Amino acid sequence: MYSEKQKAMLKWVVYQIYPRSFSDSNGDGIGDIPGIISKIDYLRELGVNAVWLCPCYKSPNDDNGYDVSDYREIMEEFGTLEDAKELISALHLRGMKLIMDLVPNHTSSSHRWFLESRKSAAPDNPYRDYYYWADEPLNDWRACFGGSAWEYDPVRKQYYLHSYAVSQPDLNWNNPSVVKEMQDVVDFWVDLGVDGFRIDVIDQISKDFENGRNCFGPRLHEFIHALFGREKTAHLFTVGECWANDIDEIERHAGQDRGELTTLFQFDHMECGRSDKFTPKPDSLRSLRDILVRWSSLMTGRDLIQTLFTDNHDQNRFISRMGNDAELRYESATCIAAMVYGLKGVPFIYQGQEYGSAGSHYDRIGDFRDIESLNMFEELKSEMPEGPAMEKINFGSRDNARRPMAWNGGKNGGFTEGTPWIPVSSRWKEINLLSDLQSEKSVWRFYRELLAIRRKYDAVTEGETVFLSSDADPFFAYLRTGPDDSGRILYVCNFESESEIRLPLEGKALLSNCGRKRVSGTYRPYETAVFLIKR
Ligand code: GLC
Ligand code: CA
Repeated sequence: MYSEKQKAMLKWVVYQIYPRSFSDSNGDGIGDIPGIISKIDYLRELGVNAVWLCPCYKSPNDDNGYDVSDYREIMEEFGTLEDAKELISALHLRGMKLIMDLVPNHTSSSHRWFLESRKSAAPDNPYRDYYYWADEPLNDWRACFGGSAWEYDPVRKQYYLHSYAVSQPDLNWNNPSVVKEMQDVVDFWVDLGVDGFRIDVIDQISKDFENGRNCFGPRLHEFIHALFGREKTAHLFTVGECWANDIDEIERHAGQDRGELTTLFQFDHMECGRSDKFTPKPDSLRSLRDILVRWSSLMTGRDLIQTLFTDNHDQNRFISRMGNDAELRYESATCIAAMVYGLKGVPFIYQGQEYGSAGSHYDRIGDFRDIESLNMFEELKSEMPEGPAMEKINFGSRDNARRPMAWNGGKNGGFTEGTPWIPVSSRWKEINLLSDLQSEKSVWRFYRELLAIRRKYDAVTEGETVFLSSDADPFFAYLRTGPDDSGRILYVCNFESESEIRLPLEGKALLSNCGRKRVSGTYRPYETAVFLIKR
């Protein structure tokens, strides 16, 4: 049985904002909090009721805000703490929630803690053990953005650990002061009224040195509990970024009696359509279906909350990887949405998805900004000519999901009056919100209807799921059955080719991406429809 808290949270629909690229209010080319505030009604119209804000704390921006230099200040370009307070109250006024991004694994190397820590290894330095220091690298770990994970610091004359960029030193959670500091950070934002946190690489705050893993260390549960198992934090919605794919492990973190997390992101389907992050692989929506079926069964079977998502700020656009983002962009975008957002769990929609944003193409590395992409490009160039290296960057770069929102087809897609911090999507004239809304085939309207169905029928938020398609079928069909007699909702999503679909059910079409009326029949490529099945 799901707990009351879980039941309430199964009604959340989260919209993820990448603040730098959402809406620029003052023409400096950088999105900001006042820009976000001006779009809250837009989000409400879409039908979301919570916002996850990627980091907007003070930061030198080596990793776009995931390198925090002060957890209690807002990044200057984004606004002030007053703006953040205004955002919280503007959301609350409309019954919406705010989820902040907490980055507890590392700070920026310009954070005061690190500046103090590097000063000396002497026992009288209270910040001495805030980070992992050693005379020699303790192992051969590689940093996520390339190179060794150990960097020599000429000031302290020792090496420190950084799992990501050189300027993102890992905090040493074994030091009780670090735990206390991070509790205080959480409490600071809870006092300001935030409703939850998405926690960056939560699995890494305890390292498993013994087994050579920089994650899932022996004290992980203890640390997460210290943050979120307290009375003050028990009401929060907490979603961990955690590359776990062992269901027992997930249950130990997100089980309702654990006092740890509400849920975790499960990332298996991120490997769909690629053999590695920068290399495409021919694939079919079958693989997405199979992963969804597997995880949906595992999670709901244990009363865990599944996170329903396809896109985020770290992955290239899912419809470009797994759909046809040319002639059938509308059809693929809506079909994939119906595969995911009718399941039991909490939907997460990443900005731009709602009008069918697709990948971008740029010929010059100068049109990219992301530290991961830039470092990867250097690595690739040592293995292959520049042309193919750029192709890989265009395929896999996080930047192509971070290009500014294209609100319309005008200058800079209506994102800014100034020069955007990163070039807008190369397809902005064709793919933007306004032209989507003006089109008969509007991804946005499909999303809005899909979310409206979630809101209207308890079967979708609370009910059980019955999978009607089998592994062999070239489509995905699932039925959501309600706790009461209000109706059952059927989702049918055809894959890449035309197929005959016969199901022993009849009902009324609530939504379709091509005017379908009856459940059974010939489905076109990526055709999808949602039906109300009468008892
Ligand atoms: C997470 C974030 C990513 C960031 C990294 C380091 O994976 O989602 O954007 O670069 O952590 O903080
Ligand atoms: Ca701005």
